[in-house]
Amino acid sequence: MARFHTLPVAAVDRLTDDSVALTLTVPPELREEYRHKPGQHLALRRTADGTEIRRTYSICSPAPAPDGDGPRTLRVGVRLVEGGAFSTYALKEIDIGDELEVMTPAGRFTLDPAPGLYAAIVGGSGITPVLSIVSTLLAREPEARFCLIRSDRTTASTMFLEEVADLKDRYPERLQLVTVLSREEQQAGLPTGRLDRERLTGLLPALLPVAEVTGWFLCGPYGLVQGAERALRDLEVPRARIHEEIFHVDAGTTTATASPAPAHSAVTARLDGRGGTWPVQAGESLLETVLRNRPDAPYACKGGVCGTCRAFLVSGEVRMDRNFALEAEETEAGYVLACQSHPVTERVELDFDR
Ligand code: FES
Repeated sequence: MARFHTLPVAAVDRLTDDSVALTLTVPPELREEYRHKPGQHLALRRTADGTEIRRTYSICSPAPAPDGDGPRTLRVGVRLVEGGAFSTYALKEIDIGDELEVMTPAGRFTLDPAPGLYAAIVGGSGITPVLSIVSTLLAREPEARFCLIRSDRTTASTMFLEEVADLKDRYPERLQLVTVLSREEQQAGLPTGRLDRERLTGLLPALLPVAEVTGWFLCGPYGLVQGAERALRDLEVPRARIHEEIFHVDAGTTTATASPAPAHSAVTARLDGRGGTWPVQAGESLLETVLRNRPDAPYACKGGVCGTCRAFLVSGEVRMDRNFALEAEETEAGYVLACQSHPVTERVELDFDR
């Protein structure tokens, strides 16, 4: 069950003009709760002027070994989003010693270290979870190799430049690093330009043996992730080998087809071992209905992107406005995003504990 705790800020490192890395200290009694897998994220919560805001940020530090202690620190990358309430606060105000409300780790864009060849295609701040994935994998699994393809606008706007260069120095044989800049010429490496479907379809077979890659990790803005996924499908990579995490989706984007809504409906939800049944008000999502009655219901983005509000649909039918968080196997297994779900049947039952 996701919980919030207050963690002190141990360091604030500026990465670029518009991004920082925040290091949080985890006290010994909370280390088990903050044990995370490489690729997971943390939701940060802030209440300002009576309004609560939550944002999720990926952990960039390596994950602790399963047989050792939980993490002593957690490091997340935060990039400024224009007009973004939390990122503006993070870049301009957060200082060493401040205390932040931090949810326990969540997310399924993860890798369990195992031998083999892995690859990632990332854009901008999409490097953040992949940095944790690569560093954990290469440190823990001597028989693993990784090809990291990153796309940024310019060198100056590239997050975690030093951390990635350090990894390349430490694992010169096992880490292949490919950088593409869209707005700056490089002395060595690939020509300037965007990484779209067409370019990737031509480029990938020249860079690595595509069919031998055990897991592909795609992370960044919607357009890049979608283009990369289509390129991989063009190259006949099985869907099960592709993992995706989208960082930003424009507000209007929807994946749903409309279904008629019943005039009166009710949701039964089980959360942290306790259940309840409540009427759904017109137009609201099932998460909103549950939150009105159970303020401890888990959520972060309310936008169908982070997956924190995932619940199992025990009975009934729902329509999701959009889903950029759940993999096809999860929706087929019966999971839904409560923040995007609206009832199609008069009775709907959700289980947040499964
Ligand atoms: S709260 Fe992020 S997907 Fe629902």
